[in-house]
Amino acid sequence: MTTRFGVLVSGSGTNLAALIDAVDQPGAAAELAVVISNKADAYGLERARTAGIPAVHISHRGKERASFDQELVDCLEEHGVEWVLLAGFMRVVTPTLLDGFPGRVINIHPALLPSFPGLQGQRQAFEANVPIAGATVHFVSAETDAGPIIAQGAVLRVDGDTLESLTQRILAIEHRLFPMVMAWAAAGRLRLERGRAVVDLLEGERRGLWGN
Ligand code: GRF
Repeated sequence: MTTRFGVLVSGSGTNLAALIDAVDQPGAAAELAVVISNKADAYGLERARTAGIPAVHISHRGKERASFDQELVDCLEEHGVEWVLLAGFMRVVTPTLLDGFPGRVINIHPALLPSFPGLQGQRQAFEANVPIAGATVHFVSAETDAGPIIAQGAVLRVDGDTLESLTQRILAIEHRLFPMVMAWAAAGRLRLERGRAVVDLLEGERRGLWGN
């Protein structure tokens, strides 16, 4: 039995590509049941089709946030989804989605939360000149980028870093972090308990990764 994940994307979907690679590994306990995008031309949808995963466009245009989210919930339920992964999904979600999958909606953010929430976390970190940047995977709550933290990956800023080079290093660690968390969820080793993320770690596992 595999655990069924739905992935929501708005853009190029390199995180989705990392998740696809992970579920293709022999013995993977996770399955990608559907990929949904609010953008018809999101390259993530193309990646899903190529991988043989149902790819669905649901436009958010001209809709109330809650009714858009209800369409997402309906589609995710139709595909038997158990966990929802937001992988570069550029819409604020409402309680409609969160109540549809209580404690089972996860987001990846390109900064070490609680620092630099919101748009362009990498740019915020770069401009703040912090020596350590990174990415965070967290449970989604009603407040943007403020839900319980599950795992983080850190990268050092190095001499000569540009916004682009730092962003690439953060993205590379995102591609390790998100599949790791998906595997925990698939194995039944991740849960939300009294407002905190709990992971049953195996020997040698950590909730943090280093990128350089
Ligand atoms: C990633 O940096 C992710 O953290 C942020 O949006 C970006 C999506 O990139 N939420 P991709 O579409 O997975 O390439």
